[in-house]
Amino acid sequence: MRQTIKRLTLLITLAISLAAVAEPTPEDAAKYRQSIMKALSGHNGAISMMVRGKAGDPDNLGNHVQALVNLKGEIESLFEQSSDLEDDRALPAIWENPEAFADAIENFQAAVEALSEVANGGEMQAIDAAHRELGKACKGCHEDFRLKKQD
Ligand code: HEC
Repeated sequence: MRQTIKRLTLLITLAISLAAVAEPTPEDAAKYRQSIMKALSGHNGAISMMVRGKAGDPDNLGNHVQALVNLKGEIESLFEQSSDLEDDRALPAIWENPEAFADAIENFQAAVEALSEVANGGEMQAIDAAHRELGKACKGCHEDFRLKKQD
């Protein structure tokens, strides 16, 4: 009996983990994409407040930069499919113009790396400059590949 329960538990655990890696629906993929974008935005916003000396302990700056470093590799996989989700703002240009989109991703990843290189030095001016470049990389991609908010 105990053996059967053990085996059943194992099977259930396996089924759950398999379900977790199954291909998401386009809608779930879009929601996931938006969650990662919000995470980028959260860390980016925190860095922004620190750099401008408005809030946050600069000792924590490295943590937020590291979070961007950790997330940056995931960005390609976020755009495997478009969806019919009403608030999905990923433009068809992403799939129609993959080379330009890959360039936008590369710009962003390079900007994160550049920020990470200066972040540990604690030199606020250099961090500020690198952070502005990162902002441009986010904005550059949004301008070409994200639907403007309709009011
Ligand atoms: C390579 C392109 C690209 C880069 C780089 C990029 N984004 Fe985005 N971002 C998008 C696209 C496309 C969407 C729309 C996604 C959707 O609606 O499915 C988006 C959506 C968002 C959203 C809205 C999420 C929501 O709730 O719907 C925020 C906030 C955001 N991005 C912030 C950022 C920040 C901050 C950075 C830089 C640190 C960044 N993005 C870098 C392409 C990019």
